[in-house]
Amino acid sequence: MVDAQGHAGLHERARTSHLEQDEEVVGAHRPDPSRARSGPCICAQASRLSRHCAHPAGHPRWAVECSASRDARHTGRRRSQARTPRRKQHLMRIGWIGLGNMGAPMSGRLVAAGHEVHGYDLAEAAREAAAAQGVTIEDTVAATVAGADVVVTMLPNHGIVTAVLDGPDGVLAHAEPGAVVIDSSTIDIDAARSLHASVSAAGFRFLDAPVSGGISGAAAGTLTFMVGGDEAVLEEVRPVIEVMAGRIFHTGGPGNGQAAKLTNNMMLGITLAATAEGAVLAERLGLDARTFWDLAQVSSGDSWALRTWYPVAGVVDTAAVNRDFTGGFATALLRKDLELALAAGRSTDTALPFAAAVRDRMDQLVELGLADRDCSVLVKLVDGELSSPARDEAVAATLSQETSA
Ligand SMILES: NC(=O)c1ccc[n+]([C@@H]2O[C@H](COP(=O)([O-])OP(=O)(O)OC[C@H]3O[C@@H](n4cnc5c(N)ncnc54)[C@H](O)[C@@H]3O)[C@@H](O)[C@H]2O)c1
Repeated sequence: MVDAQGHAGLHERARTSHLEQDEEVVGAHRPDPSRARSGPCICAQASRLSRHCAHPAGHPRWAVECSASRDARHTGRRRSQARTPRRKQHLMRIGWIGLGNMGAPMSGRLVAAGHEVHGYDLAEAAREAAAAQGVTIEDTVAATVAGADVVVTMLPNHGIVTAVLDGPDGVLAHAEPGAVVIDSSTIDIDAARSLHASVSAAGFRFLDAPVSGGISGAAAGTLTFMVGGDEAVLEEVRPVIEVMAGRIFHTGGPGNGQAAKLTNNMMLGITLAATAEGAVLAERLGLDARTFWDLAQVSSGDSWALRTWYPVAGVVDTAAVNRDFTGGFATALLRKDLELALAAGRSTDTALPFAAAVRDRMDQLVELGLADRDCSVLVKLVDGELSSPARDEAVAATLSQETSA
């Protein structure tokens, strides 16, 4: 199908694989024929977990449901044979730019799903990490996007995203007409809206699709995607995004993915600070760290930051404190997100004093040379290892100013 702009549908451009999905054998629940008429009904209304519905033996629907489902389930045939025709998975060529902490595992999941992924990054370490995941590493943006159905950028900030897309050797100069460009970086809302305009003007489709879930979510394919832009374009690339996602939300028009992401990350910054302060206080009150973490995550102190990033070594595997705060979500990146959220607060007349206080903490960490460390290194300011009284006073002053704003 070719649309008004002459864009061929991605599914037609994509190479179709003969991989078949939904091949789960359901014969494990094959009933014993002697029990079938007296036992509980196992039919299409059965719950996925119990595989039993509420129909008692002899219920009028028992025969209907069970005879209908007998072929499909009770004989133990493959579900795909018995129900709908086998789904074919459309494999695409994907150009991926930015293979860092997030980009390498995300692109690696696309490779594992059978897509052809070509990747580009300035840093050798990032290139090596992605190559280890099966990504074909290219030397230029042009080679990365040549022939790509979908181009994804996963880069540090909007200046870099704009240069990589719009620059003379950038994506727009070399991508295939009709390709869908997805920016999954976290950038500011207005910049995302400008990119929607410039990418469309160049003849491509664009989605702002930032993610939440951290590097553990990237590796597990459980990221939350917040997508701004045309819903029809999202539907075209949904099969690609699904490989990396736990949940996908269409949050509205251009820039609304970033609006959702920045609001979410502002809340993350504040809950991280609360978690760091709670962790230090709990320890100083003589509580066992593991016991406190166990109880807090089933109590009102729970948060994603607590469950995933608890900053006491040996409590949560996914926490960066276990690896001296290397990798993870860099202090510089959380600082950027808070700055962008504060800008959004100013443009909407919203006072955000707690976000401002955490941004100041991030500034302090950057000044201390910890920009590349995971942002949960904030705990070292709370426990005093890195604190300076003068700076604490400045943070307190900001908090009181923002509160009265
Ligand atoms: N790390 C997280 O937990 C996390 C979670 C959600 C969203 N994000 C967002 O995702 C984006 C990427 O985060 P990350 O943690 O992977 O960052 P990262 O710094 O680990 O990776 C960014 C990569 O981009 C590369 N790069 C920079 N300029 C480039 C250019 N001109 N051309 C090609 N490559 C270039 C860098 O070399 C680096 O490898 C950021 O916008 C961040 O805010 C990060």
